[in-house]
Amino acid sequence: MVAFRILGPLGLLASATAAQNCPFIEPSAPLKLSSGYTARVLLNGLGYPRHLAVDAAGNLLVVEANRAGVRRVVLSETDGEVCVASSGPLIPDPSLNHGIAISQDGKTLFVSSPSDVYAYPYDAAAGTVGEGRSIIGGMSSGGHITRTLLAPLTAPDTLLISRGSDGNIDNSTVDAASGKSIIKSFYISDLLASESPKDFNTEGEVFGWGLRNTVGVDEDLTTGNIWSVENSADNIHRNGVDVHLENPAEELNFHGAVSDEASPLKGANYGYPVCFSAWQTTGIPQGSEITRGSQFGGVDTTPFVEVTGSEDLGEIDNFCRSEREGPRIAFPSHNAPLDIKVKADGSAAFIAFHGSWNRSPPDGYRVGRINFTGGQPAVDVASSDEAVEYILQNEDNNLCPGACFRPTGLAFDDGGRLYMTSDSTGELYVITGA
Ligand SMILES: *[C@@H]1O[C@H](CO)[C@@H](O)[C@H](O)[C@H]1NC(C)=O
Ligand SMILES: *[C@@H]1O[C@H](CO)[C@@H](O)[C@H](O)[C@H]1NC(C)=O
Repeated sequence: MVAFRILGPLGLLASATAAQNCPFIEPSAPLKLSSGYTARVLLNGLGYPRHLAVDAAGNLLVVEANRAGVRRVVLSETDGEVCVASSGPLIPDPSLNHGIAISQDGKTLFVSSPSDVYAYPYDAAAGTVGEGRSIIGGMSSGGHITRTLLAPLTAPDTLLISRGSDGNIDNSTVDAASGKSIIKSFYISDLLASESPKDFNTEGEVFGWGLRNTVGVDEDLTTGNIWSVENSADNIHRNGVDVHLENPAEELNFHGAVSDEASPLKGANYGYPVCFSAWQTTGIPQGSEITRGSQFGGVDTTPFVEVTGSEDLGEIDNFCRSEREGPRIAFPSHNAPLDIKVKADGSAAFIAFHGSWNRSPPDGYRVGRINFTGGQPAVDVASSDEAVEYILQNEDNNLCPGACFRPTGLAFDDGGRLYMTSDSTGELYVITGA
């Protein structure tokens, strides 16, 4: 058999022999796929892989939260099928736990720990980094410790950073100066020119706030619009009634384009910790005017001890509906959206739902697709329960989270393949058909 070399669509030099395929790796759980899609495991045994990025050479950079930082996964391509050619540590910093972004020119890598954002000079062809340093600090806090990063291609020189709340209901976030439940934007040139790290809490601009724990942030390359997915609260009660099983909704939020200086969404407040969105409205006290995806207030995590009557929540609900930015699409409660990636042609967004811990039976643990038309979800109503089409699921959610894969990070390559990490099972998947 004659070995030969081909230049694949990724621009990778790949050695290939006729009919050679990647070694088969058994998925951790049986997969349920929509027709037209394939999914297979490229790599397993990873140490809690979280977000990932595709570099300028078409290789993958994966943050392993329970291992030594960032891993570089070199891909090869044979007859249109990608395989792992090699895989090894790139940045051996065990404090790195989640976020990764690459600058527009591909030469700077941004990664995050719970407290800091670091910048590293990166050579994608050689697969090497130079000396890294902290460019933003001051983010140490309890509760939610992921710091999601996005360097939008449609907004050169901008780095967006999302930091969640310290705990379930973090009342300090009623003030943007808390620097939590917030997405901030910084100029990359400022960050790189500064000799010491910028303080996240006092510097940068507020891009959006009142966002409890936004873990996925992406741009639509066709419009420049930024979309994010928010993880909402646990164990909520309203007027003494436990409504946590089906509420609040998780959210797809719209932020407009970074370059749109006049956008009313610049610096907008999305509600938390005062306002939450509804998923199932049945059983919400004083809920006659609450619809799926609309925001309401009066939420606490412990039942009120109330013997006579109840508080009138009309005023706070009106405030939440008129003064706070609601979601574009509502997702089922506790499904935990951890990443979003918009297709390069702007025709759909894909969302990784990590799955629930705060409901029984468990729910989530799947990848969803939302079709877009004209830059917005095709089903443009927050009240829809049909906006999301689930393309990759576990066969039996009743076995979750224990015996299921848990979608965590997503990334598209130039050929339209979608890569997905599953943190708890240590897997890296490739999905085609998206
Ligand atoms: C947050 O503030 C609300 C409204 O004042 C209050 O009901 C709630 O108990 C507070 N929650 C926490 C965790 O402090
Ligand atoms: C979304 O778009 C894809 C591609 O055009 C199509 O196959 C699919 O049926 C659409 N899904 C929905 C729910 O409309």
